[in-house]
Amino acid sequence: MSDPKFTPRVFSGIQPSGNLHLGNYLGALKRFVDMQDQGAFETVYCMVDLHAITVWQEPRDLRHATRELCAGFIAAGIDPERSILINQSQVPEHAQLAWVFNCVARMGWMGRMTQWKEKSGRNAEAASLGLFAYPSLMAADILVYHATHVPVGEDQKQHLELTRDIAAKFNHDYGVDFFPLTEPVIEGAATRVMSLRDGSRKMSKSDPSDQSRINMSDDADTIARKIRRARTDSEPLPSEARGLEHRPEARNLVNIYAALADRPVDRVLAEFGGRPFSEFKPQLADLAVARLAPISAEMARLMDNEDEIDRILSRGAARAREITAPVLRATYDIIGMVGPKRI
Ligand code: TRP
Repeated sequence: MSDPKFTPRVFSGIQPSGNLHLGNYLGALKRFVDMQDQGAFETVYCMVDLHAITVWQEPRDLRHATRELCAGFIAAGIDPERSILINQSQVPEHAQLAWVFNCVARMGWMGRMTQWKEKSGRNAEAASLGLFAYPSLMAADILVYHATHVPVGEDQKQHLELTRDIAAKFNHDYGVDFFPLTEPVIEGAATRVMSLRDGSRKMSKSDPSDQSRINMSDDADTIARKIRRARTDSEPLPSEARGLEHRPEARNLVNIYAALADRPVDRVLAEFGGRPFSEFKPQLADLAVARLAPISAEMARLMDNEDEIDRILSRGAARAREITAPVLRATYDIIGMVGPKRI
């Protein structure tokens, strides 16, 4: 249950690290748009450029990826008037609160994070200090807005639990009830998009095979070809969801269809059950093209208007700071920092 003391507010972030794909769209962007459109929350969406640099980024690529991600948000349906759309580095309170949290969180907590262990690998000594502190910045992203709900993928669940631990320890250490305990809104299996080559692995921008994913910038022919060549088994589609249980590739394509069509899986199977993939795939390809083509066209239009993107981000940052500056000031007051006086 969320605490009535706090305004219902959604925060989520995506790293600007290039190559938006169907998994980002269905797993994140589309859900973000749905939460915006529900009207039950204030929504804040962020390109987490400060997180991106925890591993080396070519400055030119980072700048491009940030603008492209912003274009992707807008093209997918995020309205920069109804939502606050920002890049993290333009709202300095994220990094400032992260420093405070670096002093609240414990080394042991960070060291237990699966993502840290995976990304630092066998040579943790050579990893950046920022990579280690990554979850502390993420907690600051969320808590500097007093966000109550955070939609993320399953892989970020541990970081959200840590965010709650940091909020709870801060509240406890200073004897306040200042930071909310944020609710994770974990992506369901239905919106988790898997690789087109291997139904047990997530669709990923780092998969060496471009055939494994549909990029938001793919043209109609490319999308159709990738779907035609997507791995499947040789059985026809089942008529009930139960029949997908041990058929990860089939399940993935059906899930993608259902998500793109905004229809429950049962309805999709009621229509296609008993039919072979040779009939289903062209329909899926048509649907994917119909949904994605307008998005990639709008992304391309925005990318030709960098000034427009940059203005949207500056305006987002100004609106964000109306929320974040008072929260940071109040945090500083709680912990005993002397603040500004009018002179
Ligand atoms: N760590 C998240 C990811 O890799 C991105 C992220 C950063 C985020 N800050 C956040 C997500 C705050 C939700 C809320 O997917």
